[in-house]
Amino acid sequence: MAAVNRKWSFVVAANRLPVRRVWEGDTARWVPSPGGLVSALRPVMSGNPDAVWAGWTGVPGPGAEPFEVDGFQCHPVSVSQGELQLFYEGFSNATLWPLFHDALVPPEYHRTWWDAYRTVNQRYAATVADLAAPSATVWIHDYHLLLVPGLLRTARPDLRIGFFLHIPFPARELYIRLPWRAAIIDGLLGADLIGLQTQLGADNFRRAAARVTGAKIIGKTIHHEGRATRVDAIPIGIDTGRIARLAADPAVQARATEIRHTLGSPGTVLLGVDRLDYTKGIDARLRAFKELLSEGRLSAEDCIMVQIAEPSRSQVTGYAEVRNSVEQLVGDVNGNFGVMGRPVVHYLHQSQPIEELVAMYQMADVMLVTPLRDGMNLVAKEYVASRADNTGVLVLSEFTGAAQELKTAELINPHDIEGLKTAMEAAVHRSDDEAGVAMKAMRRVVRTNTAQRWAEGFLTRLEACR
Ligand code: F6P
Repeated sequence: MAAVNRKWSFVVAANRLPVRRVWEGDTARWVPSPGGLVSALRPVMSGNPDAVWAGWTGVPGPGAEPFEVDGFQCHPVSVSQGELQLFYEGFSNATLWPLFHDALVPPEYHRTWWDAYRTVNQRYAATVADLAAPSATVWIHDYHLLLVPGLLRTARPDLRIGFFLHIPFPARELYIRLPWRAAIIDGLLGADLIGLQTQLGADNFRRAAARVTGAKIIGKTIHHEGRATRVDAIPIGIDTGRIARLAADPAVQARATEIRHTLGSPGTVLLGVDRLDYTKGIDARLRAFKELLSEGRLSAEDCIMVQIAEPSRSQVTGYAEVRNSVEQLVGDVNGNFGVMGRPVVHYLHQSQPIEELVAMYQMADVMLVTPLRDGMNLVAKEYVASRADNTGVLVLSEFTGAAQELKTAELINPHDIEGLKTAMEAAVHRSDDEAGVAMKAMRRVVRTNTAQRWAEGFLTRLEACR
């Protein structure tokens, strides 16, 4: 049990705690979340007696008492049912999320959402201010908490504050549409270090800050109101060791063979694994697959597509629409090209455990990662980390952060359906030699820039900031 009222020298704040609740019959227990951030911070958090994580449990209502799971000290921050709608579904996911993803659906601007966003950010800042020991290091994560660095700086000037944005930062021309653009930049500039996934994101942020607040940019640092904030591209990695261990596990390998057999042992399997989100380009990839089948460039006897779509944010604008469109396309392809007992697209609207995902990565010849915009995309990296024999082809959108690192992937523009079709067809026919050279280069990248190195790299730079 984490002690109430004690002070910590390292505090992490994120929208979600690193745990999720699982139910066994009538009893619930907390287990560590599978996400990339949890793996990345495990080495610096788990078992560290000086570290605590503040965040929401995922359950609306009054905050629970602090607790410990798997070595992570968790300090719940409460979010009410009303705030869930206005702060999380509203401002975070229907204003900031679409705006920061190039306005793929129109962002909505509501003053009531903004008020709730400010209130929840104030609660986070007050919680962290209370948890942090004198001169502690604080690391704040993602777009739900953009105001926290500034609020915290005012309350606790002694703290060393880092912020990492997991999603893209948009072009200045888009960002300045936000009615609260200055408050958000001011909020972020409370940090000593701001990390973004890509160089483009870092440039966009510096340009927006200069335009909105008149701040001075010198090299990578923003100077504003007597303070300096360093802005760097620090791309996140995955827990490569864990994926590699799973890929080497005979049970996972047997499962890969079994899945392939269940699919009817096709010549080629194409795979997509995404949260069901309009940013992920799932519909474009299905449309491309359908046209390739219609034009006879791929054959339904030979090629099977598997699409895992993890349920996500179903109450937020745009998500039900993309689900309808994806499911209609799946029906359309199967109706036209499937035969009794053998669909051409196997679609699961379910989340899968990581063991099952690694088995899928292993059995798939072609991995389709085609978002219209994505901060990083860890699925692309997990696929590469699962291919110990250097086989497999990754078709990757150039609008993902991952494309900045996995340069030997088959890079595509997901808006260009003909280009996507050409790349998918080429990927299916790629020779083992060519695929092997590309995969080896990508595997070097995911072995080098792991989640753990990312976390250590961020914290080392933060240390150097003040
Ligand atoms: O990509 C941003 C992100 O917040 C991830 O950190 C997270 O895994 C994912 O989106 C899902 O988010 P949510 O908390 O809305 O389910």
